[in-house]
Amino acid sequence: MNTKKIPEQFKGLLTRALLPRNNPPDLDFPRYDLTPIDHDYAAQFQIKANYVFRTLGMDVGFVMMVGDPKKAEKIYDAFRYDPKYLGGGTGSGFKNRALVCLDMIDPLAQRIGAVNVVAKRNGQLYGFNTDGIGFVRGLQEFLATHFSRAYAPDGDLSLLKVLLLGAGGTADAIAFTLAQCGAHLSILNRTAEKAVKLVARINAVYGPVAFGGGEELLAKEIPKADIIVNASKKGAEGEFSDYSSFALATEGGLEENLRQSAEMVKLLRPGTVVCDVNLRKDESPTLRQARLAGHFVLDGTSMNYHQAVEALWLIHQEDFTRLKVTKEALAKLMAAAT
Ligand SMILES: NC(=O)c1ccc[n+]([C@@H]2O[C@H](COP(=O)([O-])OP(=O)(O)OC[C@H]3O[C@@H](n4cnc5c(N)ncnc54)[C@H](OP(=O)(O)O)[C@@H]3O)[C@@H](O)[C@H]2O)c1
Repeated sequence: MNTKKIPEQFKGLLTRALLPRNNPPDLDFPRYDLTPIDHDYAAQFQIKANYVFRTLGMDVGFVMMVGDPKKAEKIYDAFRYDPKYLGGGTGSGFKNRALVCLDMIDPLAQRIGAVNVVAKRNGQLYGFNTDGIGFVRGLQEFLATHFSRAYAPDGDLSLLKVLLLGAGGTADAIAFTLAQCGAHLSILNRTAEKAVKLVARINAVYGPVAFGGGEELLAKEIPKADIIVNASKKGAEGEFSDYSSFALATEGGLEENLRQSAEMVKLLRPGTVVCDVNLRKDESPTLRQARLAGHFVLDGTSMNYHQAVEALWLIHQEDFTRLKVTKEALAKLMAAAT
């Protein structure tokens, strides 16, 4: 972005992101959505949103900009008083900071402790978290396609036991949303205290629906689960990309992890649904092991897609209603986005 084209209020706060590749070159739109992020990232949400705006002939652009999360307060102040800013995502580094910079926080986002989408309404900035609902919608769709209605009637998850692996930001959002939908949860994390703390926060709101502990409980919890969700970094791009979440990543290294996890997979109940929220081009080790053992597998794409639909709907509900675009129609458009 030509620095001359950066609106005055963003100078010294935000610079144009180099990714995704079709990030608009400037903010030259009558109205815009804007996601601040602490590093360049090929965000699919932004690509899908611009496709929707183009297709529906909307006068809006979705732009990614890189900024320092330490300046979040000034950045959100600039958004608040910028008449063209309508909302946007909160990229890496901004999810927790947004919580204290916005005017209103949705109760679920407040419980989760992170905001992933901002919508401006009557000049005020509202924070929401659609990560958990995105995961749950994807899961409900999957269950409706592969299982009889009796398993999760009308998307009701209250008959299901879910084993959640990880207790980071994403696991937090998924755990609270699953608990809100009535599911029973076991949460295991490398750092056991984090799982125990998360469980205490969930049970304080929803009653005794969750249990938490360390990964050494995997062999005990795996056979009880109807659904297993990996929301840990095992299988994510980076140091642990080849690791399976069915076993620990210890000093024994990758070989030991894959040996132990192959044993653990034998403990799964027949027909267990195994989900891995990590987004990658190929199948994650967790999903590969589960699929080869005959279980149902769901990757992170559906979560990513559904959370984006929910987010765009929250920001542009007025526009879509005026254009007579339902949420279902929006979902179809976003699925077709290129
Ligand atoms: N599909 C989607 O739409 C979507 C959306 C959001 C995020 N994600 C993915 O979800 C993943 C988690 O993101 P996050 O924001 O929750 O990250 P985070 O807050 O940093 O949490 C990372 C989690 O992974 C665990 N972990 C890290 N290294 C580990 C290891 N070697 N062994 C066992 N556990 C390990 C951490 O355990 P400790 O607590 O012990 O450190 C923690 O529970 C990311 O890979 C992200 O790309 C997907």
